[in-house]
Order: sequence, then C-alpha cells, then structure tokens
Amino acid sequence: MDRKKQEQAVAEIIKSMGVSLKNRGLYPSAHPLVRKPVEQCLDLIVPFFDDCTELALAVSDGTLVLEGVPVFTLTSSLEFFMDRLIRIGVPALIFERGLSLEDIDLFVRFLHETKAEGLSPEEIRDRLVALGVTRIRVKQTDPESDDDHAVARTIYANAVSVVSSVLQEIRSGRIPSGTDTVRVVTDMGGMLTRNRDALLALTLIKNFDEYTFNHSVNVAVLALTLAGELEIGEEAMVEVGVSGLLHDVGKTQLALDLIRKPGSLTADEFEEIKKHPEEGFVLAQKMSDIPNTAAFMIREHHMRHDRTGYPKTEAGYRLHQHTGIISVADCYDALTTMRCYQAPRTPAGALLLMESEAGKSLNPQVVGQLRKALGDFPVGTMVRLNTMEVGVVTATAEGVKAPRRVAVLFEREGKPMLRPEEVDIDLGQGGPGAGRTVTAAVNPLLFPYAAAGSYLNTVAG
Ligand SMILES: [Fe+2]
Ligand SMILES: [Fe+2]
Repeated sequence: MDRKKQEQAVAEIIKSMGVSLKNRGLYPSAHPLVRKPVEQCLDLIVPFFDDCTELALAVSDGTLVLEGVPVFTLTSSLEFFMDRLIRIGVPALIFERGLSLEDIDLFVRFLHETKAEGLSPEEIRDRLVALGVTRIRVKQTDPESDDDHAVARTIYANAVSVVSSVLQEIRSGRIPSGTDTVRVVTDMGGMLTRNRDALLALTLIKNFDEYTFNHSVNVAVLALTLAGELEIGEEAMVEVGVSGLLHDVGKTQLALDLIRKPGSLTADEFEEIKKHPEEGFVLAQKMSDIPNTAAFMIREHHMRHDRTGYPKTEAGYRLHQHTGIISVADCYDALTTMRCYQAPRTPAGALLLMESEAGKSLNPQVVGQLRKALGDFPVGTMVRLNTMEVGVVTATAEGVKAPRRVAVLFEREGKPMLRPEEVDIDLGQGGPGAGRTVTAAVNPLLFPYAAAGSYLNTVAG
C-alpha cells in the first residue's frame, strides 16, 4: 500500500469508529448507523494485515498515530473518538490479525459505555477482556519522546520518498503533480509544532548516497523552522516549505555526472550549474498545486541578499520577501554536510560563518533567526559537560534554547562509551539533570570516531 492510500485508510478507519461511537449515543446498537461504520472499519483494516500481524494505534500529545502514520487533519468524528480514548486513559491500542466485527463492535461499546476517566492500562485491559474483546488490546506507550522520534522519522522518510519520486518523474520527462509535495510539507509543519528537535535532529543525519533528496528535505525542515520563528503565517509557511523541498528541482535538467562531480568545476561547468534556478522556476510552474510564489523563491534561491549571485537580474529587482529563508536554510545544510572536497562544519561553526556573511550574501534578519532558533548549542553540537563527559546535544529546552539532553559518548577519562547514554542537563530547576551543565562546544575532529550524525542516528534511531 502506498503512503497516500495508507494515510487515507488510517483516517477512514478511525473516522468509521468515531462515527459508530457517536451514533451509539443516538440509536440502538443494532441500528445500521451504528453497525455499518463498524463493518467499514473492518474492511479497511484487514488489508493492513497482509504485511503485519499487529497494528498499533497511539494517541500522543493530541495526535493520533496509526502504524507511525500521524493523522493531523481532524474531522469532528476523529476528534470525538480521540477525546474518548484520552478521557478513559487509553495510551495505545494494538489491533491483532484475526480481528473480527465483534471485536470492533465491543470495543466501540466499551468507549461509549465507560464513564470512568483516567483508568490504568491494566484496568482497561481487564474491562476489555470481560466484555469479550479478544483481538484488540491496550498497550503502555513508550516515553513520549521516543514516540515523537518515531513519528519524526516517518515524516522525514515520507518526505525523502516524495522528493525522490518527483525528481525521478521529471528526469524521465514527465511533470508530476504537486499534491504529495504540499501534503508532506503540511506534515512537516505539524511535526515541527509538536516536537521541533525530533525533526531537526534528523537533518544532521546525512545520507551521502541520496544527497540530493536528503538535502532537499533538510532545507525544507530548516526553512519551515525559520518561517515558524518569523511567524509569517500558515499560507506563507507552506510556500516556503514547498520551495525548500523543490529548490534544486532544476538540477534534474543537468547531466548526472555534472551534479555528482567531486571537487571544483570548470568555468563552463559552473555556467551549466547556474541554470538550475531558472530551470526549476519553469518546472515548478508546470506542476499542479505548487504556489506561484514558491516557483519565484526557487528561481531566486542563489541570487543572494546583495544580488551578487545568479541568475543576474535587472537593476532594482526585488527578491521575494521570503527567499532569504530558503537561501539561509540551503547554506546551513550545505555547510554542515561533508562533501568530498569539504569537511563538514559543526552546527555552531556553520552559524559563525553565516553570521560573518549576514548583510552581505545572506539576509541578516534570517541569519539572526537561525541563531535564535538553534541557540548557541544546536542539536548535533558536540559538547563537554562540567562532569568532563563529552557528548552530542540531542534536545534543547523550549524558549531558552539551551541543551536539555545530551547523548554522552565519552566518559570523563575520555574512554568511549559502549553505547551512547542520554542524560538530562540541569536547567536550574532541579530534577533529573541536577548538577550536569554544558561548559563548552568541542571540536568533533578531536574525536575522530564520533561524527555527530552517526551518534544521533543511534540515539534518535
Ligand atoms: Fe541550488
Ligand atoms: Fe541546495
């Protein structure tokens, strides 16, 4: 089942349970308006068991997640269903292969009849068993953050697959629709509101085999983060996210050898590369659903704040007001990525370099926002703690942007840990991190086997 179908099916499955639940309050239990949605639910859920024996449904932080697919758009019946789960205290549910109509019907009855609130998972399990539900069981969820990382990974992977299919379609001479692009941008926006660090951490895991796809997704994530900080409004957020995802789409018109060429380019080759913003502009305008402003930002992403970039424009040309966001996101991702001809900079090092370009090639306001959004020790920065342990920042505290969690990679004597161990950082409020503070950023090159990305991969993965 492809992602689009899966997402639709997930929303429909939950909606049908919600509809049946709502109607139970109005009609007797044998009424078609109660019974029919249950039948629909079973029909929709059965195909999922072709590939797996269990389906997990969790409510996490106000979002329903079925098999890692988050449902961000809530209809009234979805909301009603989720509200019942939350009130009763159901953390997560497992639907097992062999699920029957009776199981779903009894489960909906349980949701309808249970007036008690805040039940423990054990109590819920006992009540379901007593009712005769055999193939739906309640599950204690993992800690919230683990859950967020799983959702973030799914959204990131979906975005990579959307970009890769768009670029491949274009390479083979077709013009794909922009619907998937817009949807995946909306998902990313939702995830950033829910747990920004979980998604930002993934931008530091660089996949060299699929550089273009990952780079495109990273630029979209970073651009959306900046857009959120700048409070540019929902519509503009989508435009910025879409242009981030498609900013290099024009490269599909260039020879693959040229794009993949390591090292410096000849003057002629560079002239070829310079065509990609204009080519991207033309392609994005041909794709359905892609906002026109996104196409303009794609055209302008290399023009630079001081207009020293390309393509060249007539005097007095004004950049779109949000192009600077794409250029800053593009620059930050490129700097923190290892290339054959360039060692990657640390997030902090990239920020410093970009600050020296603020007002010149980069928009100073946007660079300032990047510093504000990422803080002095962005996720992925290697740091030394007052305990002399060395690790990588995996989460920052909301508001102050100070490190909140660090994956310790080296013990105080410099001995590598067998497995990274995540610790809390003292934010001055006591609690689990009491006593541990970050003293300074350290140069990861002093710890050759500890590339931030690969460790984040272990922690976030
Ligand atoms: Fe580009
Ligand atoms: Fe780029």
